[in-house]
Amino acid sequence: MSSNKKLLVLPGDGIGPEVMREVGRVVNWLSRRRGINFDITEDLVGGASLDAHGVPIRDSVINAAREADAVLFGAVGGPQWNHVGFDKRPELAILTLRRELGLFANLRPALVLEPLVDASPLKADLVRGLDLMIVRETVGGIYFGTPRGIETLADGSRRGVNTEVYTTHEIERVAHVAFALARQRRGAVCSVEKSNVMESGLLWREVVTALAARDYPDVTLSHMLADNCAMQLAREPRQFDVIVTGNLFGDLLSDLAAMLTGSLGMLPSATLGAVDAHGRRPALYEPIHGSAPDIAGKGLANPLAQILSFAMLLRISFGLDAESRTIEDACSRVLSSGLRTGDIMSAGMARVGTQVMGEAVLRELEKLEG
Ligand code: IPM
Ligand code: MG
Repeated sequence: MSSNKKLLVLPGDGIGPEVMREVGRVVNWLSRRRGINFDITEDLVGGASLDAHGVPIRDSVINAAREADAVLFGAVGGPQWNHVGFDKRPELAILTLRRELGLFANLRPALVLEPLVDASPLKADLVRGLDLMIVRETVGGIYFGTPRGIETLADGSRRGVNTEVYTTHEIERVAHVAFALARQRRGAVCSVEKSNVMESGLLWREVVTALAARDYPDVTLSHMLADNCAMQLAREPRQFDVIVTGNLFGDLLSDLAAMLTGSLGMLPSATLGAVDAHGRRPALYEPIHGSAPDIAGKGLANPLAQILSFAMLLRISFGLDAESRTIEDACSRVLSSGLRTGDIMSAGMARVGTQVMGEAVLRELEKLEG
């Protein structure tokens, strides 16, 4: 039996497969230069799985994800599956993985690298040096709460229902992740909800406040209503270090935060579960950008978010800090050298496609190796 770490790779739909291909170069580099090898299995998820197997994710894939040391995910969804029912939607692949593996804490960094400071739609002065982290709860809240559904009323009209639910335990476990991260960063957590209108938000605020007082007196805790947080993110994003929030607000705010950096194509994410009795922690890594059907298959997509997701995987799941940093450095250097995919293009830079970008990362890796 090999003792290599087990990696499940799920490229998914749209640009997923083409950006994942570029990660392959980095995987090969690790093996060749650092003697680090993985047992890699690859499978279909999302629309690709729906077309091939009639379901967005097979039980065998969920089991493989459970057995893997980490899952590297691409993206799912696309207009060709817009008509399929809720029980078959490609998005169910990621939602099911989150639920089945108990992946409750989604870490979404928004980081502005100096070479990309002008790619932000905000003024450079507002975003230079931006480095914030959104910790989004991902297995609770209105995404999973019951009752849910669409019912037909007596008069023939219909009623759609979803329910926002959070328990003390669900709030505490994600808040723990946020507080622990803040300790490794600038020591500040901003907890976000709508406690002015929602009981679940009020409980959220109370639980986070109590937890901070009990276990994290060294961390600075503040609270913000979600609408104000959206405004503050656009107004003065550098006021934030770690933001912790529920599933739906986290979905919205993390897209906003990502856009502050100028490109969704640059940002990785990690979704973590609880550490089990054997010290193993289920974890899934995916870029924030989604499947980008408009440019899929054209070789135009930015592979950096997928490569940086892999770097995040190396650090968080395997403790390979040095390798992770080297890969991040290589990505920065590619940008400093002036190469840009369309999503981050700016005047005077050289526009390249997915593959050239991937090759450039590999070249920088080789240079860093000396
Ligand atoms: C995300 C996505 C997903 C979500 C979709 C694909 C279900 O928007 O990861 O942010 O809403 O959580
Ligand atoms: Mg989203």
